[in-house]
Amino acid sequence: MAYKRVEVPAAELERQREICAKIREGLGGARPLAFVDTYGCQQNEADSEALRGYIELMGFGFTEDENEAELIVVNTCAVRGHAEMRVLGNVGALVHAKARNPRLIVAVCGCMVQQPHMAEKIKNSFRVVDLCFGPHELWRFPELYERAARRRGRVFEVSPCEGVVAEGLPVHRQGSVKAWLSVMYGCNNFCTYCIVPYVRGRERSREPEAVLREFESLVRQGYKDITLLGQNVNSYGNDLGGKCDFPDLLRKINDIPGDFWVRFMTSHPKDATKKLFDTMAECEKVCTSIHLPVQAGSDRVLQDMNRRYTAEKYLSLVDYARKLMPDLTITSDIIVGFPGETDEEFESSLAFVRKVGFARAHVFAYSRRPGTRAYDMGDQLTNAVKEARSHEMIRVTTATQQAFFKAQIGRTEEVLFEREIQKGVWEGYSMNYTPVAVASDTSLAGEIRSVRIESCTDTHCMGAVL
Ligand code: 5AD
Ligand code: SF4
Repeated sequence: MAYKRVEVPAAELERQREICAKIREGLGGARPLAFVDTYGCQQNEADSEALRGYIELMGFGFTEDENEAELIVVNTCAVRGHAEMRVLGNVGALVHAKARNPRLIVAVCGCMVQQPHMAEKIKNSFRVVDLCFGPHELWRFPELYERAARRRGRVFEVSPCEGVVAEGLPVHRQGSVKAWLSVMYGCNNFCTYCIVPYVRGRERSREPEAVLREFESLVRQGYKDITLLGQNVNSYGNDLGGKCDFPDLLRKINDIPGDFWVRFMTSHPKDATKKLFDTMAECEKVCTSIHLPVQAGSDRVLQDMNRRYTAEKYLSLVDYARKLMPDLTITSDIIVGFPGETDEEFESSLAFVRKVGFARAHVFAYSRRPGTRAYDMGDQLTNAVKEARSHEMIRVTTATQQAFFKAQIGRTEEVLFEREIQKGVWEGYSMNYTPVAVASDTSLAGEIRSVRIESCTDTHCMGAVL
């Protein structure tokens, strides 16, 4: 596929920062509040952190209450119809906030509005929205905001695009212990059910030097659990002329001095190599957990999904990785009710989940996405069938998760604590991504402690700090 990466010139980004400074000066010392509402995946969370970075430079503070906001940005997801309906419902309801505060600016961005039919729908039926822009325009949010704020009509920037790379966006991170770091954008895989390649454009990798610089700066700021993001991190570097693939990048990151853990997601099984697992096993700061979506357990369904691996191939990866890393935690995504999925094919997905024994798996009922190949496939299943299969699949994934939790009992794990979930109960994740809760009267937030796992509930392993 001929694709030329488009890098946003540094001068352009500088101009965006200048616009932020002008907006801030225009506030004359006031500090209006902004609400950034995020739907969907971690990439969207990361995008929202860049939006917040700009918004902070514009002189705004932040709120989670739409009634006190002067600016509301809704960062949307298009992966499933359900999330889209929820967004539209919530955006529609903003008419009340706007009636109370006519100066309120409402922006809707992200994957949902990159679909032409959705941008049209917002233009025609959601007059409350002042500004609408797709993921490729995020780097010029200040300019778009300024245009919308001047109120010379509504602003829609949602043209098709193969994708840009913008280095040096300001980032306002939510946490102080865990951080997201995008290493690449877009996807070339065109799984037949998935809208992502259409809305996020073609794969483009950030230069390793840029990733390493950002990683080092996160370590200096005290972040301890850093997750590298990409729709398919295993094809990182394919567009960089062979100078650095994903395992190479992991190794360079592992060499950065400091106390931190590094995770990554998502991995596509067709591109997961022995080199990846060898590198994970050898690099002590790379966590022993992998999110490896299998999607289905039947080869016929996998083929119609255009996944380009078989159930057998997936199992051989799991075998190889578990031999190297007996403690490896494997999590997954499963789609049930893909067009034409028979009872037997669904059974083979259930059997597959049991066989691998996923530590956790997200179960998704197939959602028909306009513009994708699966949309036009015959034999679309009814909602009733999809729901029944979801319930059954969730029963099985809950059971494999419990089995995984029970297998942790008696082990001692390093746990990075994050927050108090009830009075005196602190929650964190172990290096192998087990959710762990312990009792403690003093704050454990941001601390890494050795914990002996003693029991488990439906949602956590319970233990005691040593
Ligand atoms: N319907 C249901 N689930 C989907 N996913 C992606 N597209 C769809 C769809 N059309 C799921 C996949 C993917 C996860 C992020 O979302 O399982 O791994
Ligand atoms: Fe969608 Fe497949 Fe790309 Fe993942 S790899 S974003 S499921 S097309």
